[in-house]
This record gives sequence, structure tokens and C-alpha cells, in this order.
Amino acid sequence: MTDDADARAPYVAGNWKMHKLRGEATAFALALAARLDELDEVDLAIAPPLTCLAEVADVLAPLGVGVLGQNAHAAAGGAFTGEVTMAMLVDAGATGVLLGHSERRQLHGETDGALAEKLPAALAAGLEPILCIGETEAERDHGATEARLAAQLEAGLANVAAAQAATIVVAYEPVWAIGTGKTATPEQAQAAHAHIRAVLAALVGDEVAALIRVLYGGSVKPSNAAELFAQPDIDGGLIGGAALAVEDFVAIAAAAAPR
Ligand code: PGA
Repeated sequence: MTDDADARAPYVAGNWKMHKLRGEATAFALALAARLDELDEVDLAIAPPLTCLAEVADVLAPLGVGVLGQNAHAAAGGAFTGEVTMAMLVDAGATGVLLGHSERRQLHGETDGALAEKLPAALAAGLEPILCIGETEAERDHGATEARLAAQLEAGLANVAAAQAATIVVAYEPVWAIGTGKTATPEQAQAAHAHIRAVLAALVGDEVAALIRVLYGGSVKPSNAAELFAQPDIDGGLIGGAALAVEDFVAIAAAAAPR
């Protein structure tokens, strides 16, 4: 199912996690803004911490760079101390939101059930959701990778109409590769991405599945990005540690440009 790879614009998103003060974030945004002419064939986004999201959005959103929340609540408001709504992200300048990152699943109790509510809430607010999925090392060792990915997709998309699903982005991030320096081989990643696209086809139909961008994440660096992005079902990357320095982020984004 690779015929439509050309229809999917390459996409590279940086996830800053819990890094950068406001001054550092603005400096990065300005430096990236000055490099955008090198990257006009690649869709870009940055997911800053909430405290500097508006500053980053002020600089980058008018230039067409996506700005993403790292999480949000599905409810439209309420007594949920420490949480923000999708509408609050929009109000701060966000264009999208990461949902279901493995750190939120493993360390902060994010459940498939909550994600089933968050995807439609994000879409209703006009945000582009990036649904993060991935297997643990134990699941891979036990041959459970495909079943785990399918279950996460089914749960995440449970309340999303097929017609809306084309605007969703999926990030395949094997948990054992995040922040560990261990990267999936291009063959391992391609196999997982092909499986993800087949599961998406079963859920939302071939045509929509062929339009959904599936990003790889997990220790992507300037030195390994090109071989990963060359795989037919890998449409770009979700970058953690290497997205903290403009030079590395630009190099990785350049590796996603069509050749
Ligand atoms: P990493 O993180 O690139 O630092 O492995 C990726 C992610 O968690 O999105």
C-alpha cells in the first residue's frame, strides 16, 4: 500500500517534552524561522511546553509551522487541576496536539479509554491530533508488537468518523527506542508502519488510510534520519532529544524532503 506515498507530504515534528524556558524557546523559534527557506518541501511542527507555547506560536504559526500541545484533556472545562482543554491550546496558538505519548501512558496514567475521547475532542476544536502508539521491549520480545499497535489504533480511533480520519497523524514510537539511543532498524520500522497502514485501512478504508501520515519516533538523529525516511510507509518523524537544537532539527527535516 505504498502507491500513495507521494500524496502524503513529509512531516517532521519536534517534541521538546519538559525542556526550554521561554527565552530559549523564542531563540529556537527565531533561528528556525530563519532556516525555513531550506525546508519548504517538508511540513514542520514543534511541541513546546505549555509555558512557552504562545511565544513559539507567535513566531512560527504565521510562517506555516505547526505548534502542538503535548497533551490536553477531552472535557470542555471543569475541575481538573493541572489540565488544559483543547480550546485553551487553540487560544494559545496551537495548531495540533500530541496524544498518547508513551511517557504519558507509562508515567502519567494515560489510558486507551481517555484517548478515545481525546481524538474527537481535538478534531472538534480544529486541532490536528498526532496519535502516538508503540510497543514495549517485552511486547516485541513476545511477538506482541502487531497486536499492541492494532489495539492502540482501534482504541484511539474508536470515536472518529472515517471521513475525519485523514487529518489525523499517527506516530509509531517503539517504547524501547525513545530516549535510549536504540533506533528501530529501517526494516523493523517499515514493517511496523506497513502493519499500521493495514490496520488503518481496516478501520477507515483503503483510501483514507493511504492519506494518513505515519511518523517514526525513537532516537531519530541527523545520522539515521535519511534511511528511516526513505522507507515507503514512513512519512517523517517525531523527534525528541534531537529537536532541542536547531541545527539537528533542520538536518533531520531536510532528510525528509522528497528526492
Ligand atoms: P527521542 O524521543 O527522539 O528523544 O527518542 C522521541 C519522542 O519521545 O517523541
